[in-house]
Amino acid sequence: MNDEPLVESRHAGTTSDQEEAAYLEVALAGAREGTGLDAPAGRTPKPLSPPAPELEPPAQETVLVLDYGSQYTRLIARRIRECHVYCEILPPTTPWAEIAARRPRGVVLSGGPASVYDPGAPGAPDELWRSPIPVLGICYGMGLLARGFGGEMARMERREYGPATIEVEPAALTPRPALRRGSDAGEGERPDMSSDVLPSPLAKGEGVRGDDVFAGLPARIPVWMSHGDSVARLPDGFKVLARTESSIAAIGDDAGHIGLQFHPEVVHTAGGLAIIDNFLKGACGCGGAWTPANVVDESVARIAEQVGDGRVICALSGGVDSAVAATLIARAVGDGLTCVFVDNGLLRQGEARQLMEVFGEHLHIPVVHVDASERFLARLQGVDDPEEKRRIIGHEFIAVFAEQAGRLREGGTRIDFLAQGTLYPDVIESTSHDTVNATRIKTHHNVGGLPEELPFTLVEPLRYLFKDEVRLVGLELGLPERMVYRQPFPGPGLAIRVIGPITKERLDTLRAADAIVVDEVRKAGLYRALWQSFAILTPIKSVGVMGDGRTYHDVVAVRAVTSDDAMTADWARLPYEVLASISNRIVNEVPGVNRVVYDISSKPPSTIEWE
Ligand code: XMP
Repeated sequence: MNDEPLVESRHAGTTSDQEEAAYLEVALAGAREGTGLDAPAGRTPKPLSPPAPELEPPAQETVLVLDYGSQYTRLIARRIRECHVYCEILPPTTPWAEIAARRPRGVVLSGGPASVYDPGAPGAPDELWRSPIPVLGICYGMGLLARGFGGEMARMERREYGPATIEVEPAALTPRPALRRGSDAGEGERPDMSSDVLPSPLAKGEGVRGDDVFAGLPARIPVWMSHGDSVARLPDGFKVLARTESSIAAIGDDAGHIGLQFHPEVVHTAGGLAIIDNFLKGACGCGGAWTPANVVDESVARIAEQVGDGRVICALSGGVDSAVAATLIARAVGDGLTCVFVDNGLLRQGEARQLMEVFGEHLHIPVVHVDASERFLARLQGVDDPEEKRRIIGHEFIAVFAEQAGRLREGGTRIDFLAQGTLYPDVIESTSHDTVNATRIKTHHNVGGLPEELPFTLVEPLRYLFKDEVRLVGLELGLPERMVYRQPFPGPGLAIRVIGPITKERLDTLRAADAIVVDEVRKAGLYRALWQSFAILTPIKSVGVMGDGRTYHDVVAVRAVTSDDAMTADWARLPYEVLASISNRIVNEVPGVNRVVYDISSKPPSTIEWE
């Protein structure tokens, strides 16, 4: 799959939790070592997290995705997890021993921009072809699979790109009875398995037909195609499962080796999820037990094992990642966790209170509440440059957190571990082939580079989860929906939504206007459909009339966007009635505001935030 270059973000598209994580590491390292708080200038920044302690991946059935650079690789992983099967993405250069150690039930080879015949094109470990592990090769991965088993690919005269329709071979449409491996399942056609091969469902003697991926699907399926190579000669033991008008669209053998020329992971492929599910449940024999409840039990056990009777410190930001991480850790280690909430005075209306209530009264997890709002405000006084605002907020956070950590230590609290809400996409990013890009993104939030050696160990309970899985785990843990489904909020908070210099009054004005936006959006049932919806306090004053008098007051802008990942975003077509209520309420209820405008710019070329 050819990757379109994604539009670069002016800011890193990270959550405030992740931004906070970078600050925290520096703060705690400084506090523990008694060194200055600022990381050395000029040092090449490291990626956000130092290598996490080597954790055994979860003990459930695992499927691996080898990433050949397709922009859809993460989507493949998402789809596999939607089928309730745990999966991990690994670079194709991963040594076989590491792959084998994960005891995968199946391996998926992703698409990628290369052609299998390009010099230096990435391959798959040879052991994979000799092992009994079922393999699903998608697009480029199909080329690897075909060649790996002795077939041939050829460059097509005309690249197939975009929507296409495949015709499934009649024999591939009906599931056939499972066969025992070693009888007629074609085992004899495979080279002998080396000693380092893995047990697979097929090896257990309850084999299933590997090529039933189209079972239950219609004979003609609209798919999303993108390839420049096609199968020229089938490997021995393989059959054509589906075709387009001009090429072979799917191949498979009885042992669970499937090649798809199209992308089952994208929504444009009808029934794509069913195809993936058939591979997972049929060929790989997965049971599909990956659910939020299992994740909770398993994470709690893992944290307890890692932390033992050590002590963990966790910073809460108000965001879902840090809240879920803290709750999981509290379940695992109870009193061994100390939560710190640095209130920078830049949160939205009611957020600080809600956080304290949820943790204190609802979850019974004690939180040290540090009200540092005046201190942040003092440091931000007169500053209007957005990047300067960000820098100040980052440094101030480090200072406050380091002081708190020092105070806790003086009071006799040991700190062995720092909790971080690192999510799976960050883990993939820091190991992906696209490390240059990943590094650049991280440095934006990385306050000048981290100390080489961090004097504590990281606990990263969300390290294997995608954002929406974190949300499900949050609900499972009893966190309120409001917190779990909170729209993304930038680390620097309202400081970058009060355009120009920040004062307490201007923050209060913005908070009041913003609360109305959120309230009306919620009332219209649109909150979760929007990526973000918020108010901005512009530095513009405009003339108005109120009663008989002339006013010269602030202009508030309203921003609401839809987006999948914040890299691109479209302005939301909010119903006029919703816009009307927002506008009426703001000018009537928020003193000092007499005009409301709606931002109708998309990203690119605009950004989501104004600063
Ligand atoms: P832009 O404005 O670049 O924002 O379109 C993309 C996403 O990133 C969030 N954002 C930030 N998050 N620290 C953060 O943690 C920041 O400095 C920052 N700036 C923007 C923004 O809210 C949107 O979700």
